[in-house]
Amino acid sequence: MTLALDAAPVAAKPALRPANPDFSSGPCAKRPGWSLDALSGALLGRSHRAAGPKARLAEVIDRSRAILGLPQDWVLGIVPGSDTGAVEMAMWSLLGARGVDILAFESFSGAWATDVVKQLKLADARVLSAPYGGLPDLAQVDPVRDVVLAWNGTTSGVRLPDAEWIAGDREGLVICDATSAAFAMALPFEKLDVVTWSWQKVLGGEAAHGMLALSPRAVARLESYKPAWPLPKVFRLTSGGKLSAGIFRGETINTPSMLCVEDALDGLRWAEGIGGLPALIARSEANLAAVVAWVERTPWVDFLAADPATRSCTSICLRITAPWFTALTPDEQAKAAKRLPSLLDKEGVAFDVASYRDAPPGLRIWGGATVETADIEALLPWLDWAYAQVCPA
Ligand SMILES: Cc1ncc(COP(=O)(O)O)c(C=O)c1O
Repeated sequence: MTLALDAAPVAAKPALRPANPDFSSGPCAKRPGWSLDALSGALLGRSHRAAGPKARLAEVIDRSRAILGLPQDWVLGIVPGSDTGAVEMAMWSLLGARGVDILAFESFSGAWATDVVKQLKLADARVLSAPYGGLPDLAQVDPVRDVVLAWNGTTSGVRLPDAEWIAGDREGLVICDATSAAFAMALPFEKLDVVTWSWQKVLGGEAAHGMLALSPRAVARLESYKPAWPLPKVFRLTSGGKLSAGIFRGETINTPSMLCVEDALDGLRWAEGIGGLPALIARSEANLAAVVAWVERTPWVDFLAADPATRSCTSICLRITAPWFTALTPDEQAKAAKRLPSLLDKEGVAFDVASYRDAPPGLRIWGGATVETADIEALLPWLDWAYAQVCPA
């Protein structure tokens, strides 16, 4: 009898399966108990400019403000193009008045750097970059300059640990892409001037719409500075040199989906019902804690985030550290790493947990507030099982 030495080790499938296998980093899992019935009251087939639908749009703004604790003197609007739309309209409307520093440490923040340097072609732009897993040297950021950053790097699982390094008396504006941070992490609004997010992340809403929050200083810049380039209608936040205040009362620039609006409201009401921002943060942190405990007892895996203080509680990114894996070529690593999510997908226990296409090969598990910690806990033995299938004997 011959023994197949390279056969995969036999590992029994775990008995328990996550009740909800949705661990995608966007669109993210719907809130617990969600069904299409939640949208039955949607004002479909109506003009979004009519009183009823407009009130629903305003309700999204009001409830979001209240849950996030947005300062009273900030404005918040619903804008086209999801989070990308919100970030782009902020950059195209505000940048160019002074030098800008961009923190580029994963795919999306890298994309903002590309836009500033190659599309807006700003002469005085500094890209402060770091490889996946790290953060740029934050001490380099100059308070006289504008700053563009992502609070949470969704594709590296690295978040900013604090805002100590942002000057309270800064002259520049801080434009913060918070799409995978809002509703799961405390955002230091006093250190930020523009904050953006979308509906499909932490509250599990439907995609397409962006949220744009502006501090009084950001509004002052909008009303005093005219960029040298033309602004398309979907980016325009001012009219006749004044803020288009209607946008921040639910008078959207173009047509929103009232179905998505209803779903956003459902997510916001759910968030209020469970205890608001502290409860949302606690749910997400509990998800991270469950993964931390598993990583600590699992020899083949580690966080992509090099510093534990920067580990994201939403986009939890993991890398495979086993010597057989790190000895592979980058192509072989990419192929081997993809087998884990593919096995989990086939079993129906976890969807969309592969690392982002441009990120180092590994796993990315969404731990935002709509994900139940019990489901994360049920997933972890399945990761062990999938790894045992992929690991050479
Ligand atoms: C940090 C970050 N910025 C921007 C985006 C793009 O967001 P959207 O698809 O809502 O435009 C994402 C999407 O995951 C993201 O994670």
